[in-house]
Amino acid sequence: MTTLIIRKPDDWHLHLRDGAMLEAVLPHTAAHFARAIVMPNLVPPIVTAAQAAAYRERIMAALPERLDFNPLMTLYLTEETDAADVEAGFRNGLVVAVKLYPAGATTNSQSGVREIERVYPVLERMAAIGMPLCIHGEVTNPEIDIFDREAVFIETVLDPLRKRIPGLRVVMEHVTTRDGVDYVRSQDKDMAATITTHHLMINRNAILAGGIRPHYYCLPVAKREVHRLALRDAAVSGDARFFLGTDSAPHTDPLKENACGCAGIFSAPNTLACLAHVFEEENALDRLEAFVSLNGPGFYRLPPNESRIRLERRNEPVGFPTKIETGDGPVTVFDPMVSLHWNVTVEAG
Ligand code: NCD
Ligand code: ZN
Repeated sequence: MTTLIIRKPDDWHLHLRDGAMLEAVLPHTAAHFARAIVMPNLVPPIVTAAQAAAYRERIMAALPERLDFNPLMTLYLTEETDAADVEAGFRNGLVVAVKLYPAGATTNSQSGVREIERVYPVLERMAAIGMPLCIHGEVTNPEIDIFDREAVFIETVLDPLRKRIPGLRVVMEHVTTRDGVDYVRSQDKDMAATITTHHLMINRNAILAGGIRPHYYCLPVAKREVHRLALRDAAVSGDARFFLGTDSAPHTDPLKENACGCAGIFSAPNTLACLAHVFEEENALDRLEAFVSLNGPGFYRLPPNESRIRLERRNEPVGFPTKIETGDGPVTVFDPMVSLHWNVTVEAG
């Protein structure tokens, strides 16, 4: 049996939702992760530091007592965002990053940014104080093919933004293309990217070949195999600019299995078992800790976690529930389409 003991991981991109859904999904992340960057795309979105403080309290109230977990809050950038409020939230340690959603790019992004020039004053303030900007990197122009939206975003929005505000620290969230990986590698240490678990495991065939499978639909949508391989290469490379953001994003089954199904994959329960599987396949188990526990804190200038988790490889497959029940209805868990053999536990002490 292979055993791996690594620092407790953090999830640098997570959707916890609110209310009954929050209560049901939070324990799955908090069981294995010490911290997570909590996405602000609630309805209505979390746009002020005061709203982030209130949301953080709701998360802490939903946390089972036995679990130790620190939610790192983000603000949803709008064209009305007040730079002074952002700075105050960052300086008092409550808000760790701002999230930019191009308006209409994904779930609950209607109040996002339409004209990036309008948010330059906030971004300039963030550059001055060293506060990271997390970007959903897809254009929303209906003329651009959905599989090309990330690459076009890099060329038409991200690169001009970096040239205009070079000191701004940027995370390209859930990068899904070779273009994105190449772009990050071409830049300095102020440009990083998160990679999801599912984008390391599936390509677009999972969604579309042999029947339409809505539980594999997320945004950015999974791309061709060459892109998945580029993401794997980046994740296992040890390059400090790439780190885990699961983008675990629960929607109830009726909302997924629908003529117009929601985007989002819920992977929190089995995400670390999946990642150990991927790193084992890539002969890179010695670099799993960098990807899940070290590179993220490095970029966010936070100390890595002192506690540890244990990953044990079993000969027999380790089972996971196919669904969890929530007060809002059942939520399907990401099915990696391979059997998983890694059992994850938190080390005592
Ligand atoms: C996310 C959600 O459901 O909130 N969906 C998704 O497909 N990833 C939003 C997002 O991160 O794009
Ligand atoms: Zn997300």
